[in-house]
Amino acid sequence: MKIIKTISELKIALEEIGRDKSIGFVPTMGYLHDGHLSLINEARSQNDFTVVSIFVNPTQFAPGEDLDAYPRDFDRDSRLAAAAGTDLLFFPDPGEIYPAGASTFVEVAGEITKKLCGQSRPTHFKGVTTVVNILFNLIQPNRAYFGQKDAQQVAVIKKMVRDLHLPVQLTVCPIVREADGLAMSSRNVFLTPEERNQALVLSQSLAAAKALHESGVVQVKILKDQIIGQISTMPLAVIDYVDILDFETLADIETITAPALAAAAVRFGSTRLIDNIILQ
Ligand code: PAJ
Repeated sequence: MKIIKTISELKIALEEIGRDKSIGFVPTMGYLHDGHLSLINEARSQNDFTVVSIFVNPTQFAPGEDLDAYPRDFDRDSRLAAAAGTDLLFFPDPGEIYPAGASTFVEVAGEITKKLCGQSRPTHFKGVTTVVNILFNLIQPNRAYFGQKDAQQVAVIKKMVRDLHLPVQLTVCPIVREADGLAMSSRNVFLTPEERNQALVLSQSLAAAKALHESGVVQVKILKDQIIGQISTMPLAVIDYVDILDFETLADIETITAPALAAAAVRFGSTRLIDNIILQ
């Protein structure tokens, strides 16, 4: 596996691969876990060449969020990425991605970026779409791989690719969970044992709502109240949002007649966790 830090080296490496080879790309912020590795495996199985990026993107963190505290361990990450079959690991410094004076952003406008995580993190998706665009421009992948764990991120990036006619095919991979159901996240490392215990309520409440929906309940209010009620039984849980929206457009719905996304963000101490489940 080649480790590359600069754009000039990246260009040379991509020229060496040749245009006739397909490139699968997995963007990450590092501190890799099995969720990230599932994307790398999928990319590797569908492409001649697999590129992974590790870049803790400053523009998707607002002042006061956890940019500086975000967990980082490049040595461990590079071992895991290599073992998963990554061909090229791109690990740029912020100055490489955002040269001094850079002031251009890519922003998906409208409701899709304003609800769910967009409410408490109003500048987050602008940072995500900007960096994903820059990375797509640099790497020019045939296919790019994202996790359903970040359901709104997937919806927003899909829309950006469609709106801007970006020449890349997106693949969305299922949420990888710990044995007890907690969705894997680089931020889980911050949970105290007690928070880790109580955080289980997130996946459990979403699964309970799915079971309720499968038993015939289609009213969003009833399903939402079920999730909120269950999460609220945990004293350390502070709900950021719980919502059930149209799966494709993230539009508000009152009853479920097409696939819907039940999504929640909950703080346990200083750690904010997100999870979701598809109701269909
Ligand atoms: P990061 O949180 O590192 O996640 C990188 C990719 O791994 C995302 O597509 C995310 O959805 C996926 N992923 C994370 N946890 C997962 C899990 N438990 N199961 C399946 N997939 C999982 O998302 C980002 O980084 C950034 O916003 C990025 C797209 C790299 C732009 O900076």
